[in-house]
Amino acid sequence: MSRYYLTTAIDYVNSRPHLGTAYEKVTADVIARYKRLAGFDVHFLMGNDEHSQNVFKKASEEGFHNNPVAYCDRMEEEFTSVWKALHCSYDDFIRTTQPRHKAAVQKLAQAAYDAGDIYEGVYEGWYCVSCEAFKPEKDLVDGKCPVHPTLTPEWIREKNFFFRLSKYRDRLIKHFEAQPSFLEPEIRRNEILRLLDAGLEDISMSRAGQSWGVPLPFDPDSVVYVWFDALINYATAVGYGTDDARFAQWWPADLHVIGKDITRFHTVFWPAMLWSAGVEAPRQVFGHGWLHYGGQRMSKSLGTSVDPMDAAAPKFAPDAGPDPIRLYLTKEITYGSDGDFTWERFEERYNVDLANNLGNLVSRVVSMADKYRGGRVAPAGDGGRLAGVAEASLERYRTAMDAFALHEGVAAAYQLVDAANVFIADSAPWKLAKDPGNAARLDAVLFEAAEAVRVAAVLLRPVMPSSCDEILRRIGAPVTGAALRLDHARWQSAGERTTIPGPPMWPRSEPKEITVTEPAAQAPAPEAAAAPAPAADARIGIEDFLKVELKVAKVREATAMPKSKKLIRLLVDVGEAEPRTILAGIAEGYQPEQLVGKTIVIVANLKPRPMMGTESNGMVLAASGPGQPPILVAADDSLPPGTRVG
Ligand code: MSP
Repeated sequence: MSRYYLTTAIDYVNSRPHLGTAYEKVTADVIARYKRLAGFDVHFLMGNDEHSQNVFKKASEEGFHNNPVAYCDRMEEEFTSVWKALHCSYDDFIRTTQPRHKAAVQKLAQAAYDAGDIYEGVYEGWYCVSCEAFKPEKDLVDGKCPVHPTLTPEWIREKNFFFRLSKYRDRLIKHFEAQPSFLEPEIRRNEILRLLDAGLEDISMSRAGQSWGVPLPFDPDSVVYVWFDALINYATAVGYGTDDARFAQWWPADLHVIGKDITRFHTVFWPAMLWSAGVEAPRQVFGHGWLHYGGQRMSKSLGTSVDPMDAAAPKFAPDAGPDPIRLYLTKEITYGSDGDFTWERFEERYNVDLANNLGNLVSRVVSMADKYRGGRVAPAGDGGRLAGVAEASLERYRTAMDAFALHEGVAAAYQLVDAANVFIADSAPWKLAKDPGNAARLDAVLFEAAEAVRVAAVLLRPVMPSSCDEILRRIGAPVTGAALRLDHARWQSAGERTTIPGPPMWPRSEPKEITVTEPAAQAPAPEAAAAPAPAADARIGIEDFLKVELKVAKVREATAMPKSKKLIRLLVDVGEAEPRTILAGIAEGYQPEQLVGKTIVIVANLKPRPMMGTESNGMVLAASGPGQPPILVAADDSLPPGTRVG
């Protein structure tokens, strides 16, 4: 089995994770789970970066001045509890204060020293503690670090050891040329190529007068600079400095997933450090974009930071677990570009993608199998049109996921979900069930729909592991969980399934409660007391409006009502197990055949009304000017049936 070694950036532990840092871990976890599904023996590393001055400072502020490691122990628990709540499936969690890491850092520093790539000098210049980086004067904006404009960089002058980065410029340029996929996406590669073109200066690799860090083996009074230290974690974790055989098995790393702000460290410093020590560079680096909150940078001090724990138990669906936020982060953001999060958008996507679309599909298929076949779905035929869609989705999914276009991979799986919803509406199993002569066709439709759900759940499993396992269980899939491989996403025309009904997996979120504040009671002014009482206010409160359930519906059938000039009998799909019949007074505006396929809006919670011997279950919304024929209120065709309007 081929190995795949994948890592995320390791986080500074001076504050808790926010949804931006979580974005990186979740998307890397999707890649790790996809690679396992694709049959690789995956080693997925995450961890914490502890030797930062800001961490030391924070530990002191928290009362751990004499024992910063104890502060880091506490933060490890905070971080790992968040990653577990988000279902990140890391195989190892590294901390830079661990003895194994000290051994690796000292080994690499010594090797670079022995290679003649480290020399002593004096550093004089600006240092931004928040970036943990030396800042050339030309990079400052009004004397401030552009990334941390509220902080003033420190001017430092101290003995430092320098790493001969400049020596590796030509080799780096050749490396980028020979391996165009070394840094993805392309925009990041172009940034680094420009930087290499401009030339490289040697970098400081040690700090003097500090105790927080790994001592340099050739000058124990200095500690290794935090970035030189941190990058080595990727090698430490697979045995560098402690277990040569293991290191030989797992190195080079296949992929470092990191944010776009730290590509220079990973694709310029890191390969050069490794080459200096006689070790191969990692195979690939992916620099993802930034997650913003309502268009703003995520920051605690600005109040724009989102706690990932809140996102894994959102107020609108407290029991949904981490899968809705995992889906949002993967599906809504082009991987590699910046993205945005707001609670409103998250709730909207939850309702559309999960409650109305996937959740509704699963409920429909399982409840129809239960109702018409006692939960037994028997194979019949080779699969109709959905088999073709499933094959195309799998192909598109695989290509996208292999290229880390995670959003595109999810879209490919949803292509199948959408096709299955349309297939059910078109084949109308509820109609087939009425005539025993259609039994074979009904079997085939139920099997085909159930098989499409199964394939979609296999494809979506890297993104929503627990929900997809639950879907696979309900749909009676023969293989579920970690045993699944991409081959299981191929269409299967054999094997009876037993479906298991259950409550809705993602109940629609309730409309928000709106508090109506009554104006404070006041003694009437004398004139007001004398004025005539105002006419009764005919307006309604929002609470009355919210009682009306407006929903998107698709017209499946339309027939003229005999003996009626006004009424048309509609069969509309409102995303429920069966379509509804509605009698609509729109015959003066439409021929029945014009209506089929239209996406309209209905009042969904009207009590059924008998009309001309038929029961009407709802009301369509239509507008008509005086003497004008009615015109239906249309909704966008992309909205799935059942989407709430309002
Ligand atoms: N400790 C260094 C990384 C060392 S790796 C050898 C560091 N730590 S960090 O805590 O500041 O950031 C950790 C990761 O989170 C980085 O990849 C960073 O780009 C990413 N992100 C931090 N904020 C983010 C967003 N708002 N959005 C997306 N990623 C974000 O840098």
